[in-house]
Amino acid sequence: MGQLKPVEDWTTDFEVLDDGYIHDPFTVWDKLRDTCPVAHTNRRGSTWLLTTYEDVTAAAHDIATFSSLDIGVIPAVEDEFEPLPYGLPPIGADPPLHTWTRRLLLPWFSHKRVDGYEEMTRDLCNKLIDGFIAEGHADAAAGYAQQIPVRVIAKILGVPEELSDTFTGWVRDVLEFADVEERAIRGRDGILGFLLEQMPLRKEDPRGDLISELLHTEHDGEKVEDSVVLGIAALVLIAGIDTTWSAIGSSLWHLATNPDDTARLVLEPELMDSAVEEFLRAYSPVTMARVVAENTDFKGCPMAKGDKVLMNFPSANRDPAAFDRADEVVLDREHNRHVAFGSGIHRCAGSNLARMELKVALEEWLRRIPEFHVAEGAEVTWAGGQVRGPRSVPVVF
Ligand code: HEM
Repeated sequence: MGQLKPVEDWTTDFEVLDDGYIHDPFTVWDKLRDTCPVAHTNRRGSTWLLTTYEDVTAAAHDIATFSSLDIGVIPAVEDEFEPLPYGLPPIGADPPLHTWTRRLLLPWFSHKRVDGYEEMTRDLCNKLIDGFIAEGHADAAAGYAQQIPVRVIAKILGVPEELSDTFTGWVRDVLEFADVEERAIRGRDGILGFLLEQMPLRKEDPRGDLISELLHTEHDGEKVEDSVVLGIAALVLIAGIDTTWSAIGSSLWHLATNPDDTARLVLEPELMDSAVEEFLRAYSPVTMARVVAENTDFKGCPMAKGDKVLMNFPSANRDPAAFDRADEVVLDREHNRHVAFGSGIHRCAGSNLARMELKVALEEWLRRIPEFHVAEGAEVTWAGGQVRGPRSVPVVF
């Protein structure tokens, strides 16, 4: 990732890839919310960081000012390969493209469809646990959390499970190593190359999966363009993997370091639904960007057309003005209007699937491994940027 200039002033020169920040962004957010809730940096172009619940939700709803045509927290690598004239809709689109592409996608993640994936997810979790339970130790992030969402998404896209590790590698390249040109290009070309190869096969021989269905769908009486299908399929792959794996990993890390919460969840499994929401709030993985469409004044900050704005959903979810005991994990929290899945028209289309995977992954882990903690002397590592979550959580049980 190269050597990053250390941050001396978080209000005027923040750096989202700073190691200390990736490990503990919470103290930075607390300070910024109190002193400078809209921070700025000129690293990677003029970029603003919104940290309060009020500001993040206000910007998410003001789609005329804050466009989704550039949503990368770390700017995308630019080169010749450009098969995506419409980017990744619906997440990287404004209306009207956003509206109809989102409508195409939503039925794939309805409660009913998601229920249909629950059994396979449960089986998958158990197979993974079977693989390490006798050893008395495991990497809860790399050996468990990371393995789950990719296989469910592979099923939805109709691609063989054997490609799971390859997909995971590509998605990490795109999201986690977005600032390492070689890796960013490798990930992007891998994902798009794979989908471009698959699309003609599924045009000829539709198989009932998401890619096949989209290729045979019409919008306004016309076939949906291949490049739109490509963008949607790539988005599902990117959005559905790292996000959920990070959420599962953070939740397990919390339980591995907070034995009282673990014991309580084991004794009171009926708390699982509210616990899942609380983990999503307290360890929200996803920050998105917007691009300023017209010069504007936002809370006294002169934002210029073309500036980036980081929608810090994770910090919004820790805002004491919006949540009691914002910095604590309260497993039975009653009112939890968190924005881990965003807010407004781009609110996560896959939230039912994410919640199911998170719940099933935690239920099966706790059923079979009710007591566990981080191995002594082991290093827990985190990734950050667009998606924050642990990459390695060595635990013993
Ligand atoms: C814990 C896991 C997840 C989290 C925290 C999460 C978070 C988010 C957030 C914050 C947004 C809003 C983006 C914005 O405002 O620009 C979003 C959008 C989206 N997510 Fe998720 N996501 C998760 C899992 C998933 C899964 C499993 C899928 C399914 C494949 C998915 C698909 C999408 C799609 C398609 C959008 C774009 C919706 C639109 O623009 O209308 N996400 N997600």
